[in-house]
Amino acid sequence: MRDKRNLKVEIINNEFLTDVIDGLNQKPKTLKPKYFYDNRGAELFTEICKTPEYYPTRTEIEILKLNAKDIASEIGDNVALIEYGSGALEKIQILLNVLENPAGIIPVDISKDQLIEATAELQTMYPDLKIIPIPADFTKPISIPKLSPAPANRVAFFPGSTIGNFEPNLAISFLQGVTDTIGPGGLLLIGFDLKKQTETLVAAYDDKAGITETFNKNILHRINTELGGNFDIQSFKHIARYNEKEGRIEMHLESQTNQSVSIKNTVFQFMEKETIHTENCYKFTETDFKVLASKAGLSPVKAWNDNRRYFAVMLLRAS
Ligand code: AVJ
Repeated sequence: MRDKRNLKVEIINNEFLTDVIDGLNQKPKTLKPKYFYDNRGAELFTEICKTPEYYPTRTEIEILKLNAKDIASEIGDNVALIEYGSGALEKIQILLNVLENPAGIIPVDISKDQLIEATAELQTMYPDLKIIPIPADFTKPISIPKLSPAPANRVAFFPGSTIGNFEPNLAISFLQGVTDTIGPGGLLLIGFDLKKQTETLVAAYDDKAGITETFNKNILHRINTELGGNFDIQSFKHIARYNEKEGRIEMHLESQTNQSVSIKNTVFQFMEKETIHTENCYKFTETDFKVLASKAGLSPVKAWNDNRRYFAVMLLRAS
């Protein structure tokens, strides 16, 4: 007998399967970066954040910590905080420590196990805080529950430069969805990575310890274990490069030989040097980002940076 839980897993795997087949039938071959994040992928990303080369996470945390009081005074009290891609729930604690009387937090994440674990841990640290975790894929429309009693305002928190994973037109529609969720006068506190020297950018996605390589290849590992694929993972090479024209880091997996790979009954041919494009990470200037956000009905309120100007945290208001 199948229980409901198994059925849900099958539906998710089906979507994973159709996305993978679709993506590998495209030219050039592509896979969606959200599929990095099974439990192992979420853990690998946490490890990436500790590498010396990957500056975004620690830079953003530094910006949030140094400016926490200022950010809190801009945000105001009694707000509902909605965090998209909440991961280990580390960054929101910086805000919780300075916000006056928050009405509650709604963390949204695709990695369900990590979300449940991180929520439970946060609840022990903040026993009186209302926490409503939502396991969901935020690249699709999701409905966010309304807190009662009604908070003074809704504040979306989208740190980590994850906005850079969206193609520009999809970034606008995602932000438009956020605008609708927070409502007129609602706020968005967002972190994005700034354009900088190519070497610095590339090193962040090609760490010496090879953790980003393992993270990139985790998508092949998932196809093998969850979808019955037969990728020879070591015959693919991790590649990170900066596409200057598009203003983005690209991650690829490059086949080192002519080979065929099958997933269940479907066979895919790879030429030597042919790549699977697995991720784009767009980099912005503050002006780039303001232009993008204005197309989604958001106006800048204030921005904070680190001394090197590697990263930006910006507060915007929905009109
Ligand atoms: C989680 C999307 C913000 O784009 O920097 C890190 C993902 N990929 N190393 C990023 C990532 C490779 C990361 N985001």
